[in-house]
Amino acid sequence: MADYSTLLVSETDGIATIVVNRPDKLNALNRTVLDELAEAVRHVSRTGGPRVAILAGAGERAFVAGADISEMSTLTAAQAKAFSDAGHAACDLIERAPCPFIAKVNGFALGGGCELALACDFIYASDKARFGQPEVNLGIMPGFGGTQRLARRVGPGRARELVYTGDHIMAEQALGMGLVNAVVPAAELEERVAAVAKKIAQKPPLAIAASKRVILRGLEADLVAACELEAQAFSALFGSEDQQEGMRGFLEKKAVTFQGR
Ligand code: COA
Repeated sequence: MADYSTLLVSETDGIATIVVNRPDKLNALNRTVLDELAEAVRHVSRTGGPRVAILAGAGERAFVAGADISEMSTLTAAQAKAFSDAGHAACDLIERAPCPFIAKVNGFALGGGCELALACDFIYASDKARFGQPEVNLGIMPGFGGTQRLARRVGPGRARELVYTGDHIMAEQALGMGLVNAVVPAAELEERVAAVAKKIAQKPPLAIAASKRVILRGLEADLVAACELEAQAFSALFGSEDQQEGMRGFLEKKAVTFQGR
């Protein structure tokens, strides 16, 4: 696996872990981080790659405290567009990766950090985590998909309030609005994320990838078209080794191991 200057990337037993590694800057996203993230996610998305990925931030205090404000402070409008495009590219790659991404949020997930977590399939947060889109306090607005993915996740009313006020919210509030899937004591976050990742890694990867694709595309389609998409993806799994093995296992009351074929 490639060496990265701002990420720690590892892979064990079908579970990839990508850690943004700038703890002294609360893992703020500069252009190098965004480009390396895109490269790492492309690598994770390769055929026969890991079955699930965990995205985290290094250190005790932050998942990611936002886009790098010192780098952004001197950007021209054209450079800001390129920066936003790089953020979108990284988030889109995560969202469209064949394997699920779990955001493990231990602390601040602000601005671009919240947006990055929202690009993941779901978020597990420690009880110390804080979320928010504070860009308005800097005279700007979310630029890595926050106006869109946040509104889709928590509804437009709550998204507007977070974006217009720039307020930070605690993990429990984020749980209440459906922004995160689970809040666990900080000391248990690692273990809980590892457990859900392990469970997903044992499931048939073709079925997981198809489910991920159909949920994402279906959200943008009308119900009839979305259900048709589902019927096509569902039927395409028949004839796969995993479908045959999975059903045989049930009928013969035997445990099965899915091969991803
Ligand atoms: N961009 C660049 N650097 C950042 C950063 C960001 N988004 N967030 C934190 N940092 C840096 C700080 O500048 C500081 O660096 P320094 O030690 O070299 O001065 C270091 O990370 C620690 O942050 P600090 O502000 O000292 O910690 P704190 O505990 O007082 O506050 C936060 C933590 C998260 C509340 C605060 O850092 C913050 O508001 N960050 C910006 C959040 C934001 O607006 N994000 C959206 C950006 S679009």
